[in-house]
Order: sequence, then structure tokens, then C-alpha cells
Amino acid sequence: MSATRIAPVSSEPVLQAEGLVHVYAGGTRALDGADITIGRGERVAIVGQNGSGKSTLVRHFNGLLRPTEGRVLIDGTDAAGRRVAHLAATVGLAFQDPDRQIFAAKVRSEVAFGPRNLGRRGAELEHAIDEALAATGLEKDGETNPYDLGYSRRKLLALASILAMATPVVILDEPTTGQDARGLARIHRIVADLAAAGRTVVAISHDMRFVAEAFDRVVVMREGRIVLDGSPANVFGEPNWATLGSTFLEPPLAARIGARLGLGSTPTDGVLLDALEARSA
Ligand SMILES: Nc1ncnc2c1ncn2[C@@H]1O[C@H](COP(=O)(O)OP(=O)(O)O)[C@@H](O)[C@H]1O
Ligand SMILES: [Mg+2]
Repeated sequence: MSATRIAPVSSEPVLQAEGLVHVYAGGTRALDGADITIGRGERVAIVGQNGSGKSTLVRHFNGLLRPTEGRVLIDGTDAAGRRVAHLAATVGLAFQDPDRQIFAAKVRSEVAFGPRNLGRRGAELEHAIDEALAATGLEKDGETNPYDLGYSRRKLLALASILAMATPVVILDEPTTGQDARGLARIHRIVADLAAAGRTVVAISHDMRFVAEAFDRVVVMREGRIVLDGSPANVFGEPNWATLGSTFLEPPLAARIGARLGLGSTPTDGVLLDALEARSA
């Protein structure tokens, strides 16, 4: 099945994959012809079952992985000709597993590493670190050893390290895993702030409510391909429930209740409550 792209990309393309195939050394064909164009300033969520190729796809956007077949373009230029260090100035990627990303002995040094590598120094560097720590709620942990933080805070630290680099594109691989309501609210806010600053945000998530509420666009992956691509209202709408089911995804509760009540696919909590009140009145 081909992906249904409802809205055309309204802005200049910043990340593109064309016929992207990735076969790992062991022979796993993790990407089997993925096509996607992401425009500047978009907020894109990537969803799909474990093993569907989400992490493999995003790792191509900062040069951690190179295509087996097909092309990856960053800002319209083939990534094949660009060094990882160069891509790192454009695309920041917070890893799915924070423990593969974190290596410093102190939280502050961990967050300093990326921006320092990009040439920031002095007050500019300190400011970037302070802002990233504040956004992730780690401002009091600057001197802490990352391994004394719990898993959910190590995830936030991995995120802070990427935020501090102030890259035009920020990719978050499962940022919400292990987060409580407070952590989730922080991540929600970070995504909104990045978008408000005109930066492009791509996040992989299994939290369909977060996806529906914080993103403009949802991309559904299955077996190394993109099977749905559109606004949350479109992708989570009833006509796509069979396709979503084939990827073992459930639309957010609001989409299911909204469809039942004839309110459209992703009504806000307020709209749902009003409709329920109107029915019981
Ligand atoms: N480093 C690797 N070496 C070999 N196979 C891998 C590697 N990383 C992922 N895979 C395999 O590639 C497929 C896609 O994995 P991944 O991109 O991590 O999916 P997702 O992020 O959607 O869970 C899976 O079958 C996975 O086991
Ligand atoms: Mg993954």
C-alpha cells in the first residue's frame, strides 16, 4: 500500500528520504523503500510497532547510518557527501537508549559536549547549557553523575544535550518512554517551544495521545515502509483504523470517542466534555 499524504509539505524541505533501504550487517532489511519529505518548521511524529524501522530511519538523518539503497537529503543536499560533524550542526538526535548517548561524568559536562563541539564558548555556551537544563528540569543536577539519575531523567538529559546544540532540526527517539505526567508535560512544552522558534521537530513515540496533541503530522511505519502520513485528524480517522490495526496501533481514545459521537477524529478534551454534557442534559 502506498502512503497517503494529505497536506502537501508547505515549507522548504529540510529532511528527505527517497527510496531508502537499509540492510544491517546481519541481513535484516530494516528499511524497505521509505519515502518522506519533512518541511522546515514541521512537527512530525513517527509511530509504528517495535522493529518497524523508525529508529533506523531517523539515524540516517544525522549520518549515523548510511543508506544501503536510495538517498537522504538534508537541506536539499545529498547527505552522502557530508561528514557527520557537518550534519551534527544541522540535525540533533536524542537517542532512544540514553545510555548509548551519555558518557560524561557530570550532567553539566554531558550537556556542554555538543555545543562545545560546535564551537560555542564562554557565556554563550553557559547560557545554552542553563537553558537546556531548565527546559528539562535538571537545573539542580548539574554536578550529578548521570548514572545517579533514574532512567526517566537520563532520557531528559539525553534530550537536554541535544537542545543545547540549538540545531535547526531536533529528532527525539522515544522521548516519552518512562516519563510520568510531569516529564510528559515538559516534553510537550519543549516540542511546542521548538516549533514556535521555527525549528523542525521529529519525534518517535508510542503515546498516541501525545502524538495527536503535540504534532502537526503523523507518519505510520510498518515493515520498513511508510503506510500512512497526514495530519493527526486524518491518520487517526476511522477510514484508517484497519491500517492502524495492521500495525497494532490504536488511535487515541479521543479519536475513537469522537468518531462515535460524530465529532471528527481528534476532538480536544474540552470538545468531548461539552458533547457529553450536551448528551446527558
Ligand atoms: N544495529 C542493528 N543491527 C542489526 N539489526 C538491527 C540493528 N538495529 C535495529 N535492527 C533491526 O532492524 C529492524 C528495525 O529496527 P529499528 O529501526 O530499531 O525499529 P524501531 O525503532 O521501529 O523499533 C528490527 O528488526 C531490528 O531488530
Ligand atoms: Mg526504535
